[in-house]
Amino acid sequence: MIRTIVWSPDAACPTIRILDQTRLPREEVYLDLDTIPDLCEAILALRIRGAPAIGIAGAYGVALAARLAAREVPERDAPGAGGGGAPDLLARIETDASRLRAVRPTAVNLAWAIDRVLARLRASRAPGGSAARPAPAGDLASLALAEARAIHDEDLAMSRAMGAHGAALLPHGAGILTHCNTGGLATGGLGTALAVVFTAHDQGKAPRVFADETRPLLQGARLTMWELARAGIPATLIVDGAAAWAMKRQRIDAVLVGADRIAANGDAANKIGTYGLAIAAARHGVPFYVVAPSSTFDPALPSGDAIPIEERPATEVLAGWSAGASDADAAPSSAGAWNPAFDVTPAELITGWVSEQGVRRRGDFA
Ligand code: MRU
Repeated sequence: MIRTIVWSPDAACPTIRILDQTRLPREEVYLDLDTIPDLCEAILALRIRGAPAIGIAGAYGVALAARLAAREVPERDAPGAGGGGAPDLLARIETDASRLRAVRPTAVNLAWAIDRVLARLRASRAPGGSAARPAPAGDLASLALAEARAIHDEDLAMSRAMGAHGAALLPHGAGILTHCNTGGLATGGLGTALAVVFTAHDQGKAPRVFADETRPLLQGARLTMWELARAGIPATLIVDGAAAWAMKRQRIDAVLVGADRIAANGDAANKIGTYGLAIAAARHGVPFYVVAPSSTFDPALPSGDAIPIEERPATEVLAGWSAGASDADAAPSSAGAWNPAFDVTPAELITGWVSEQGVRRRGDFA
């Protein structure tokens, strides 16, 4: 299991410790983040990335905001001071939470996790106090951390369950095509689509993986290949444009991908290129599975048309990714580019949705 994100509980100055994914696969460098702007930067720059992982980061971010707020105004909530500072504290925490929520719009896990921690804080009351009396600042910080830890623990449990449900779908020696990175790095430590691969491997099913490199930021090449090599799972890297041809010429038994948001009708947003993979899979009769925890399902959105799609700077496409530094020109300096980070695969192209609760089929959606 990968230590993607860890809460470092130094009482004086707690930090969120993350494995900086922009430095992989060259070096394993951990960053200690102790301010909300630093955490926002880390999420935006994809130092921590993947829908469940940024949800966990957002939850710990609210815990960090609560801790920082409690440190700055402790005297207003000291015993006997009337506890009048807590509404202000909550407002401050909510302001930080709004900044975090806005950093990446497509993955619903980020907003979901932040809102879950905030809901716990709003519901808090001083022990024995009236419903109108808020909890002291230190209690708010402890509550936020407890909720963030619960989200992190649940994510790991959901990964294990998804792994088991998904592995049951695969034959022995399955050829699996995957996109982006959906492993421990993208989650609380195990994965979504890659959790299925890890589980099948542990069960002796000898899966073989074809990994799309995933332009422009190479999450497949840099991160998925790194994770599979660590696990000793045979993996072949292909350029994104080779995926349809791989379905034609290699033995591919299933496409397994993650998701950043799944609408009520089953439409699934995931890393740009996923939609094309689903079209190619349908053409070649290859089952196409989306593997995602229930925290990625957004029943409030009727269809994928309503999913906000993050657009990232054109420079990511134009500069390319060279050995961890995006300074190699991939196009003439006069070129422009469009850089949507995600696309939406319509439910009609998806064979099954694997969550911790089991496998849903098309007919299970409204
Ligand atoms: O831009 P990224 O690297 O955060 O995109 C990640 C993906 O698209 C993953 O497939 C998705 O978050 C699901 S993985 C657990």
